Amino acid sequence: MPQPDPIVTDQNHLKSLSYKTQDKLNVRIRTHKKYTRPQVDFIHWVMDTISWQGDEAVLDVGCGSGNYVEWGQAYGRAYLAGDLSLGMLRGLSHPGLIRVNLDAQRLPFAADSADVILANHMIYHIPDKEAALAEFRRALRPNGRLLAATNSVYTMTELRQLTPKALARLGAEPIVFQDVATGGFTLENGRALLQPHFAQVARHDLPAAFVFPETQPVLDYINSSRDWYERKLPAGVSWRDLLAAIGQILDEHIAQHGVFRVNKLSGLFVCQN
Ligand SMILES: C[S@@+](CC[C@H](N)C(=O)[O-])C[C@H]1O[C@@H](n2cnc3c(N)ncnc32)[C@H](O)[C@@H]1O
Repeated sequence: MPQPDPIVTDQNHLKSLSYKTQDKLNVRIRTHKKYTRPQVDFIHWVMDTISWQGDEAVLDVGCGSGNYVEWGQAYGRAYLAGDLSLGMLRGLSHPGLIRVNLDAQRLPFAADSADVILANHMIYHIPDKEAALAEFRRALRPNGRLLAATNSVYTMTELRQLTPKALARLGAEPIVFQDVATGGFTLENGRALLQPHFAQVARHDLPAAFVFPETQPVLDYINSSRDWYERKLPAGVSWRDLLAAIGQILDEHIAQHGVFRVNKLSGLFVCQN
């Protein structure tokens, strides 16, 4: 299993670049919404995986661009949006929303205060995952549930394969960029990390695919993660060179096959004590 790149858990990098504002994440969210087939609403799928009474206190840790705000407010009695990045929280303008600048490793909440904790597509960014999982357990009431969505280590392989192909075209060493989540907290290693903290851990998978009829949205998606990958480029290759070579490969592929298809595997752990 490859080790996760340390930049993925570097809190200064996350706050000052990756999640300084919602812009980069929103490119990826829009791409998933527009080009995923079959067209499943992932947020809805996550929230409907568990049963709701309507009186739950919901804590959304790493709320990002607020994907879960409306569902959390509609499904529970109270919903609180928490994130490490002030910039992400500033971008949330939902009326009446309570926003808290927090770090999952030290939750500023009393024990037994939440019925549902959402920690979706964020655990791979936490430096000390054991500390955060212990915090989630502490903050949850008895029978409370943690929902932790993440990706498979095998997700979007076709997208990752574009880089070595493009670098080979440019006459450079054909390195492969790891997915940001690789090795950190994935569908494959998540259960082993969660089980010491929760008596019940259930995994739910949602396979799907990106189907791109054109090149530009793929380039936009890759470009939204530039701050994670650019510094790994071999000497003499610029980010612009890389995107231009990937663009050529995609144009040729789409001219021949009609679309560029990228298989995805995301899923959800539902944890309870
Ligand atoms: C990929 S986004 C996920 C957003 C949202 N949960 C979703 O699924 O759409 C990851 C978010 O986690 C936040 N984050 C990263 N490390 C964190 C930490 N230690 N504590 C709280 N939030 C964190 C980031 O600032 C970012 O907004």
